[in-house]
Amino acid sequence: MVSRFLQVVLANRALSIGAIGLAVGFLVGAGLIGLPPPFMLVLLIAFGLVTWAVYRWRTRALPVRPGPAPMRTVLSSAGIAALLVFAAAQAVPYGRAHANPPVTAEPDWANAETRALMVRACFDCHSNEVEWPWYSNIAPFSWAVTKHVDDGRSKVNYSEWDRPQRDADESFEEVENGSMPPGYYTLGGLHADARLTDEEMSTLLAGLQATPGLSD
Ligand code: HEC
Repeated sequence: MVSRFLQVVLANRALSIGAIGLAVGFLVGAGLIGLPPPFMLVLLIAFGLVTWAVYRWRTRALPVRPGPAPMRTVLSSAGIAALLVFAAAQAVPYGRAHANPPVTAEPDWANAETRALMVRACFDCHSNEVEWPWYSNIAPFSWAVTKHVDDGRSKVNYSEWDRPQRDADESFEEVENGSMPPGYYTLGGLHADARLTDEEMSTLLAGLQATPGLSD
């Protein structure tokens, strides 16, 4: 069943290119910008449908030919579709509001160094002092950034310490086991500030343990 499907895909260059495009789309979406799967799916499906529509429109005058589709027309249709989908994505309201609500209270930091390291490595997603990067104004990056901040704040917000922060006591563990900050955040030299040296890492871990509420 799967091999039959692969045979059909491989026999048709347009489908092969499409499959590679989808795979690359998923990798770029998931890995590079941390775009959540539902957003990725909607974008990729829109891209596929619009490519098909553009291709059909451009070849509407041609007689329907059996056999593989003309590759150049497929590729240029995909290019046009990418531009159209990108333009349409800018009209989506989600991801435009870059709110930084007031800071109401912070943990009783062990020392200034601990706070400074936390600001560098964590505050862009877990505080009300988020520095919104320029690309957070451009979809689909704006969707990814907004989702990270919304999810991050909902788990633990170091700027609203007057409210219960259920997952705050996992802070030490998350840093120690390397889950936080997430890999996509520092990928390709992005947010170089958040890449801590070994020395800074031990300082941060000691500081997290010495700050009430940030470890078990
Ligand atoms: C790029 C955004 C981002 C940065 C930077 C970031 N986090 Fe997170 N954090 C998240 C998101 C999104 C979640 C919730 C989803 C998840 O668990 O992956 C989360 C979850 C958490 C949780 C809850 C545990 C869990 O997995 O649900 C803790 C604790 C945490 N982060 C601490 C930190 C600390 C400490 C830093 C800095 C060293 C940090 N985070 C940096 C986005 C971020």
